[in-house]
Amino acid sequence: MRFHQKAVIVTGGSKGIGEGCSRVFCREGGLVAILARGEEAGARLANELTEQGPGRAVYIACDVSQPQQLMDAIDRTVQEFGRLDCIINNAGWHPAATRIDDTSLEDLDSLFRLNFVSTFVGCKHALPHLRKTKGTIVNMASMVGILGQDKAVAYCSTKAAQIGLTKALAVELGPEGVRVNAILPGNVDTPMMHEWAATLPNPKSALQRVASLQVFGRMATSEEIGRIALFLATDDSSFLTGQAIEAEGGASLDY
Ligand SMILES: NC(=O)c1ccc[n+]([C@@H]2O[C@H](COP(=O)([O-])OP(=O)(O)OC[C@H]3O[C@@H](n4cnc5c(N)ncnc54)[C@H](OP(=O)(O)O)[C@@H]3O)[C@@H](O)[C@H]2O)c1
Repeated sequence: MRFHQKAVIVTGGSKGIGEGCSRVFCREGGLVAILARGEEAGARLANELTEQGPGRAVYIACDVSQPQQLMDAIDRTVQEFGRLDCIINNAGWHPAATRIDDTSLEDLDSLFRLNFVSTFVGCKHALPHLRKTKGTIVNMASMVGILGQDKAVAYCSTKAAQIGLTKALAVELGPEGVRVNAILPGNVDTPMMHEWAATLPNPKSALQRVASLQVFGRMATSEEIGRIALFLATDDSSFLTGQAIEAEGGASLDY
């Protein structure tokens, strides 16, 4: 067990990539705090994972776009588990394709609050606890933070900001032994991916097209991303910090 009796916070840990992380860490003996808004999915997953063991999971209601709620949830996690070894700042959202002309300042501001400010608050408020354990931070950014994406100026900007935060914070915290890395998923088979496809005229062919972009001819599973998060959270990656791990199944190759 690679995370035995160690504690991790997974924001957005109830579905999609976050669910994959929660499952992988619990399977490795971890104590997992699942932060999300929806109680039904969060509590159901926490119960299921605790029953399966060998780790233990709790659901904590939290809207990460509300900084006070996120700070309270981090405090509750430490009360529950008595320690914190990793925070995975994963909760986020990709709006439907929108040109810059139709992207209001309010839209930009609220997406930054959800995708980026939450990452900043998560890092900052978890840090006093992570210093004690020489823990790690994993930020879920995206390939489009470095590649760009059509009609996604706001989203790409939030993801690029997460990468900048990751690198700067890694420099700052290196001497204290706290490592900070980002994962840049390409296309992952999650509820959000299916919600995006449903906004298009032919969802099935859109999903097939997205799957064909990777050299494997398929999207990543959430647990494949979860296993990368586990690698970044353990001593297996002890010499990695400030890295933006491109988890894209070769989609950006063969240019
Ligand atoms: N899927 C991909 O292909 C892909 C690619 C690159 C990067 N990413 C990034 O990976 C992360 C996860 O994406 P996903 O595809 O797994 O999304 P998803 O399937 O929509 O799952 C999102 C999770 O986050 C939670 N969440 C959403 N808004 C929240 C909020 N305000 N406060 C707390 N929790 C919230 C959701 O639960 P509730 O709704 O109940 O709160 C859910 O557990 C995002 O940051 C996304 O940008 C995804």
